[in-house]
Amino acid sequence: MKSLDDEFHGIMTAGLGSLRSKVTKPFRNALESIQASEGDRARMEAVFDEAENPLDEDGDEIAIRVRGLSKIYGKHPGRAMELLAEGHTKEEVQNLTGNNVGLYDVSFDVKKGEIFVLMGLSGSGKSTLERCLNRLIEPTEGQIVVEGVDLTHMDDDLLREVRRRKISMVFQSFGLLPHRDIKNNVAYGLELQGIREEERLRIAQETIDLVGLTGYEDSYPEELSGGMKQRVGLARALATDPDILFMDEAFSALDPLIRNEMQDELQKLHSRLGRTIIFVTHDLDEALKLGDHIALIKDGEIAQIGTPEEILRNPADDYVSSFVRGVDSTKVLTAELFMKKVTDKVRISQGPRTALKILRSSRRSSLFVVDHDDRLIGMVKQERLIRAVNAEGSLMDAVITDVPTVAADSLMKDVIQIMVTTDFPIPVVDGNGILLGIVDPSVAAEAYSEGEAIR
Ligand SMILES: Nc1ncnc2c1ncn2[C@@H]1O[C@H](COP(=O)(O)OP(=O)(O)OP(=O)(O)O)[C@@H](O)[C@H]1O
Ligand SMILES: [Mg+2]
Repeated sequence: MKSLDDEFHGIMTAGLGSLRSKVTKPFRNALESIQASEGDRARMEAVFDEAENPLDEDGDEIAIRVRGLSKIYGKHPGRAMELLAEGHTKEEVQNLTGNNVGLYDVSFDVKKGEIFVLMGLSGSGKSTLERCLNRLIEPTEGQIVVEGVDLTHMDDDLLREVRRRKISMVFQSFGLLPHRDIKNNVAYGLELQGIREEERLRIAQETIDLVGLTGYEDSYPEELSGGMKQRVGLARALATDPDILFMDEAFSALDPLIRNEMQDELQKLHSRLGRTIIFVTHDLDEALKLGDHIALIKDGEIAQIGTPEEILRNPADDYVSSFVRGVDSTKVLTAELFMKKVTDKVRISQGPRTALKILRSSRRSSLFVVDHDDRLIGMVKQERLIRAVNAEGSLMDAVITDVPTVAADSLMKDVIQIMVTTDFPIPVVDGNGILLGIVDPSVAAEAYSEGEAIR
């Protein structure tokens, strides 16, 4: 079997062979190869410059659009496709034709800048799908449009440029070159692009700093821990400044703590760099944590596509439910889902007497106080209100301003952390401090049982 190092090298140099065979001169040197590649690069850039990203129904830009994508492994794909169209299963097609169905009729859109997770059991077709997207695996049927450019009929030279400059890959087994130090591993893709040494080492250093490996430039892969090696893998992928990152089980070989750390790191990098990422995993927790959208794949077909919340709340079928089972949904559900409208609140311009009246009729033990823009000032309780009334004071005299707040997208697990230390509802505010709603302590139990309820 090919090692992943070979595989990476193969991917990066794919197409060079065909390039060489096209040159008839007997003494072709490296310079020519780079010049030829420069021509392809310019051609590729021109193609992408002219293209426009398609838009989805929300008006958001689509980075990758896939339509009717199928991959049949074997000698008689036509027959297999016919049987699939007649409704036969992957297993039946295998038995009838000996062909293995990698993918069948897969369609989806990936928004520009999002993390799109492909998840499913081993053998479901995740890697096949990811590799069909840059045609490392040639699809049997279907269309792939990347940033408005149809890759389906693109020639090999351009495709190689796309893989070198547009789309980078990060592998589970790191795929580092053992005889190169870290800086030269990170610079490898740039070297293949023909970038001169000084420049590529400068970029490599920047990227090494970005992934937190400063100081390890001269180390060798064998001197690094698994987590550090995967940082190198990530740095190498980022060094070529690609628009799109493919990550196939990139964190699966790491132990849980390091894996968590790398997930956090990826999220940070993602919000800083804003790349489109296709992330393959068989781990639901990872998918829920990282994914803006998740596509669940079963037997080469899409079982469900949705946001993490959609998938948790509404699993499409038993296959999806079986993944969702056992997930602590407070780790993915947000305050917004459990937020209620604030029916009882008082404006700071109203007096303590009015506040006391509203409070008593609300049958609550506390009231939130807002300014005329609905910005949260704090809260009041009965005892302090009565004191303010008796002392002929203002409402402000009774306000407790030191109130914990959460954002609409705060995770329920964090909201519950706050809830257990208080005896009042938790206010949800926006970036300007405007009171959007409250999360009542009674929903904590609801949030916990949500995972149960959807099974
Ligand atoms: N080169 C190949 N030749 C024949 N069949 C293949 C080939 N590669 C993959 N397959 C088949 O295609 C299907 C999908 O495999 P794929 O590797 O894409 O799954 P996966 O979801 O990535 O699995 P894993 O989680 O184990 O990596 C499987 O049935 C597999 O046996
Ligand atoms: Mg795989």
